[in-house]
Amino acid sequence: MPTAAREFTAHDLVSRLESLSEFGATHPGVTRLVYDASWRAAHRWLRTEAETLGLAGTPDWAGNLFLHDPAFVADGSRAALLVGSHLDSVVRGGRYDGAYGAIAGLLIAAALRGASGTPVVGFVTAEEEDSRFHGGMMGGRSLLGGVSEDELDEVKDADGTSWREALAEARADGTAAAQTPDSSRPLVRPLRVLELHIEQGPVLEAERLALGIVTHIAGYRRWRARFDGDARHSGTTPMSHRRDALVCSAEVVLALESLAREHGEPAVGTAGRIAAGPGLFNVVPGDSDVWLELRHSDHAALDRLSRELEERVAAIANRRGLTVSMELVSSQAPQPLDSGLADRAESVARDLGVSSRRMVSGAAHDTMVTARAGIPSLLLFVPSRAGISHSPDEHTEPEALWTGFRVGLELCRRLQAEGGA
Ligand code: GLV
Ligand code: MN
Ligand code: MN
Repeated sequence: MPTAAREFTAHDLVSRLESLSEFGATHPGVTRLVYDASWRAAHRWLRTEAETLGLAGTPDWAGNLFLHDPAFVADGSRAALLVGSHLDSVVRGGRYDGAYGAIAGLLIAAALRGASGTPVVGFVTAEEEDSRFHGGMMGGRSLLGGVSEDELDEVKDADGTSWREALAEARADGTAAAQTPDSSRPLVRPLRVLELHIEQGPVLEAERLALGIVTHIAGYRRWRARFDGDARHSGTTPMSHRRDALVCSAEVVLALESLAREHGEPAVGTAGRIAAGPGLFNVVPGDSDVWLELRHSDHAALDRLSRELEERVAAIANRRGLTVSMELVSSQAPQPLDSGLADRAESVARDLGVSSRRMVSGAAHDTMVTARAGIPSLLLFVPSRAGISHSPDEHTEPEALWTGFRVGLELCRRLQAEGGA
């Protein structure tokens, strides 16, 4: 017999977040990449936690996990209010990114299990960070049925392992179900989606506010730029005779930084990785590969910045006599979220005496995908200490986590009571 739906305390939330952060703990930080051993162990743990709280855990073919009343059949025939976030992390990331919303979704689904009205189902997406595969929100897209069979072979990690091969390990231990994308439909039809998340920026802390109600999520473009010059003897090739691919990449990194600075906020530009070959003291690098990212909350501005970057990169390569290829590896368009849900969250916050403001998210989130699919979606933030995220130094105070949870729970309770499924 499942246990009765129950009230939770801040300790229930924080202790589970601590437990989850042990899966993939890299000291410092958390590294939990989709389908790796830590991810699979975390997934199994979460499912067991759900069962302990009287819920069932049902994974879909991609390893997204639904946490629901055992009486709710997750076979694609039922609709629900979904609440959750993602299970994966960046490399050496923090303990809260994704994890907070995943645990909040678990507890909200458990607290509202069996109440009359719309079913409330917790969700945990398999992948959101783009850290292992550059698949562009594989978790959220697969959860909605937006991934084709071909992608499983096309998308590969840095070691050349395809998504299909990596998924096989998850299927073998039951953290993903045995269907294929083409043969399965989404296990739950989302009526609305709520994601609780840490802010990952400095605004709430600076303004001493407890809650961010996100109206809009910034988009991004990510490229791999590859430069080919001449690998030559470093001692005998005069500076005037070089086509140095690493120096070319270095100039491109600075050009990206200048571009974002010249444009001004909220434009941001980051070169997250650079490599050069053959990688010796005594050879002028003949090839180089650099990862470039631009973000902006406005679509037209992101387009303009992207064009400008491509022109600057081509001009730098041309002036230095190198060939360049620039491959767009992933992108997300800026995405507005549901204003009706934002109004509802604001009135819940007011009723609970929780200070809040509306804001834009500079980081990407699962709710980008669900909102783009036309599902009313909302993202709620709690403060991040010093605005730090994607870092082992990520931290949010337990009281702040709990305050956001209380708002999320009450919002789901009200939406549930209105019915409609
Ligand atoms: C996800 O965290 C992103 O914004 O890259
Ligand atoms: Mn996240
Ligand atoms: Mn993240």
